[in-house]
Amino acid sequence: MRRYHVTTFGCQMNSHDSERIKGMLESLGLGEAAAPDEADIVVFNTCTIREKPDTKLAAYLGDAGARKRENPELVIAVGGCYAEAQRERIFDLYPQVDVAFGPGSIPHLAEWVGAGGVGVERGRFGTHEHFAGDLPQRRERRVHAWVQVSMGCNSTCSYCIVPAVRGREQSRRAGDIVAEVARLAADGVREITLLGQNVNSWGRDLPPGLRTEFGELLRACDAVDGIARIRFTSPHPKDFRAPVIAAIAECDAVCEHIHLPLQSGSSRILKAMRRTYSRERYLQLVERLRAAIPDLALGTDIIVGFPGESEDDFRQTLEVVEAVRYDSAFTFIYSPRQGTDAAAMADQVPDPVKHERLERLVEVVQRIARERNAERVGRVEQVLVEGPSRTDASLLRGRTRRNTTVNFSGGAQIGELVDVLVDGATSTTLRGRIATAVPA
Ligand code: SAH
Ligand code: SF4
Ligand code: F3S
Repeated sequence: MRRYHVTTFGCQMNSHDSERIKGMLESLGLGEAAAPDEADIVVFNTCTIREKPDTKLAAYLGDAGARKRENPELVIAVGGCYAEAQRERIFDLYPQVDVAFGPGSIPHLAEWVGAGGVGVERGRFGTHEHFAGDLPQRRERRVHAWVQVSMGCNSTCSYCIVPAVRGREQSRRAGDIVAEVARLAADGVREITLLGQNVNSWGRDLPPGLRTEFGELLRACDAVDGIARIRFTSPHPKDFRAPVIAAIAECDAVCEHIHLPLQSGSSRILKAMRRTYSRERYLQLVERLRAAIPDLALGTDIIVGFPGESEDDFRQTLEVVEAVRYDSAFTFIYSPRQGTDAAAMADQVPDPVKHERLERLVEVVQRIARERNAERVGRVEQVLVEGPSRTDASLLRGRTRRNTTVNFSGGAQIGELVDVLVDGATSTTLRGRIATAVPA
């Protein structure tokens, strides 16, 4: 049997795309190899959001190229956002690559690797014509599934390469999404994460008659039997209109966890980033969300060192972090991306300053996350059991509705919802034991 191996870089959308890449390859009769050096076809599903994934890919392709020199039959395929961004140059940059395809062209992968060789057409980019759920897929986790609700992004954040590589936003029809969710529930899935580059602007581009908004989609998914938890990512702060907030508050399955990308706490920088909200509007939104959704957990994304960011701008970011008290945060050093407006801005921040700011930010973020988790000690949390603990085989692992990983003792089945009494916390995880009765 011919075997494949897929290496995935980047965001949840890529993880989900890799599930369909695997599903397609398996539908062609290939089996999964445990490691790249045991595979006949190696696929790299790439990311190009910052320079780092580009550099990492270069190293991986170097290794794959060396293996191909020993075994000329090896097929090297590069998909995803880097391939799309470098569509004109990819075969010049990496002559060892046999097949390249963009995120919109996964359905064509079968044509190229199908018969066991390399298709006539070595690359196809930018078609964006299918939704993930319409293709075979191999799910990463048994009780959780990604559900793609839209593709592309219509925002124009000045630092971001995503709109260039993922295209204009297209919403998938509600009926198709709900049908997929129902199929997943029948297959034992308890938790779904709705995926879109700008997930909460879903629905507005649908044809008249089908046009709707994200709150309605949450309600429709909430009504599917067997789905205990619904999450969604990534929302944009500009699209949290009242009906969306009401739906989150009113739907039992929608979890008390929102990822709310801040990017910067300085209104001046937010404007240069073209985020379309100010520091004040963002903080007001946090208040509205917290007022409507009790015990809400908030996560965020923050960029330091955007062009023109002064010490004062950066301090304003720290202030917002202190004011909001995020439960978790992804922090990034600004990375210029070719073709974006921010990359051409004159006042780029020197590297040492960016690094110093990142360190200061991470310190604050981690302290607050630790404090937030410590507040959970003594409480009983509902946990969805995912499997054995990664650090201690005698414990189980699962996640709370607020999306914190918990390692806990006591017996339970994968996919079960259990009450766990929390007795310990770090900045990223909780510890506990299954509670037999909820303490008064
Ligand atoms: N569509 C999502 C995810 C975008 S990429 C959203 O809008 O939230 C994930 C994060 O990467 C972004 O939120 C941003 O914080 C970061 N990012 C994007 N471009 C970047 C760049 N050029 N340099 C550094 N970080 C970047
Ligand atoms: Fe990029 Fe902005 Fe779109 Fe997010 S909303 S994908 S940061 S352009
Ligand atoms: Fe990266 Fe593409 Fe996701 S650039 S972050 S894999 S949308």
